[in-house]
Amino acid sequence: MKNIVILISGRGSNMEAIVRAQIPGARIAAVISNRPDAGGLAFAASHGIPTRVVDHKAYPSREAFDAALADSIDALAPDLVVLAGFMRVLTDGFVNRYNGRLLNIHPSLLPSFPGLHTHQRALEAGVRVHGTTVHFVTPTLDCGPIVIQAVVPVLPGDDEDALAARVLVQEHRIYPQAVSWFVADRLSIDAAGRVDVRAESAGPTGWTVPPVEA
Ligand code: GAR
Repeated sequence: MKNIVILISGRGSNMEAIVRAQIPGARIAAVISNRPDAGGLAFAASHGIPTRVVDHKAYPSREAFDAALADSIDALAPDLVVLAGFMRVLTDGFVNRYNGRLLNIHPSLLPSFPGLHTHQRALEAGVRVHGTTVHFVTPTLDCGPIVIQAVVPVLPGDDEDALAARVLVQEHRIYPQAVSWFVADRLSIDAAGRVDVRAESAGPTGWTVPPVEA
């Protein structure tokens, strides 16, 4: 079993998708939020998953918050730390501590639109396709090795909410897939910083994204 700690800041729908996927070999050790009022905490608790709050407002600096967060995470002996709508910029020290075992989901097709307001920026740029990316986290924001992406069309008449909703459906498919690959030891990063997904070996099968419902 691999221990997974999921960090959230709000709604937690990606965390929920990962929990619901019941990925073979994965144990969700805890869900940690930096906001006491994060909606996702109730879902986790109702599914018997331990929850913790490390409130960033209680710490005088980014470094102090990250140190407290790392203490809370390390107490759970995680194999993998999953950022699922965790809306804090992390210090290099924190990121390097979890090098190779820290995943994030970002609501754009990286390297396009790192940072915030990705759907609005995609609309303003007039792109015809948009999407989402799961990547390993490195110190440069939204820049780490890409594990999996999903593409959606940008349709005439889309507003930010419509586009975000279309992307979110895909987020809920690809994040469990990425986590299941990690848990099955199928991910590696080559010398050029690209992710290789090894073919499935014999033995217990992993988790595969279900088809999109019409
Ligand atoms: C998701 O769309 C995720 O991609 C995004 O926040 C949302 C969280 O939703 N993450 C970022 O923007 C990270 N910079 P959720 O709480 O329902 O999973």
